[in-house]
Amino acid sequence: MRGVTVIDHPMVQHKLTIMRDKDTSIAGFRRLLREIAHLMCYEVTRDLELEMIEIETPMTRMDAPTIKGKKLVFASILRAGNGLLDGMLDLVPAARVAHIGIYRDHETLQPVEYYFKAPSELDNRLIIVVDPMLATANSSIAAIDKLKERGANNIRFLCLLAAPEGIEKFSTAHPDVAIFTAAIDSHLNEKGYIIPGLGDAGDRMYGTK
Ligand code: PRP
Ligand code: URA
Repeated sequence: MRGVTVIDHPMVQHKLTIMRDKDTSIAGFRRLLREIAHLMCYEVTRDLELEMIEIETPMTRMDAPTIKGKKLVFASILRAGNGLLDGMLDLVPAARVAHIGIYRDHETLQPVEYYFKAPSELDNRLIIVVDPMLATANSSIAAIDKLKERGANNIRFLCLLAAPEGIEKFSTAHPDVAIFTAAIDSHLNEKGYIIPGLGDAGDRMYGTK
């Protein structure tokens, strides 16, 4: 599919299978989400540009590679995005963080926005938006609309599961934003849930219903 990378590394796929299992505990689900975030962060940042800096090892001076440019921004769509965010920050502890509070109305499936806090300078930074689920895409499209309103111009979207319907809508709304996902599932059901999916990601992370 256009603009979509499926991260099909065996470790990611193995962990995802355990997460999908309805009998996986809350603690297990949370731990696996964090672990998968490590592996996916590695892939989504694979092409970052490097520059050489001079350093001194205990033995000698050398030119060594370091990531070029401004600090990355991770933008978490609350609540479930925070599960991925924690793992991403394990790998990139100096990243800046945006929190975007959005939930979808269960009847209309339309996004309801309740919070937004982001670093002030978003232009010319790579912004990686994280949310485990891309279902109708209403939430992620709204979140990226907000970031673009504030100057973001280099965005990637990272999720665990994506529905084909959501990918289509997302790619039409934001053709410049590449999607990274661990799997593309079959379809959405009549209530907008991903099938086969893993259920409600936020509820499974936090033990709510
Ligand atoms: C879930 C998920 C996404 C959204 C995806 O959040 O974490 O944000 O649904 O669905 P969409 O693509 O159809 O918009 P939810 O609305 O359940 O909020 P929560 O994380 O606060 O529980
Ligand atoms: N949000 C979820 O948490 N799960 C789905 O299947 C769809 C949207």
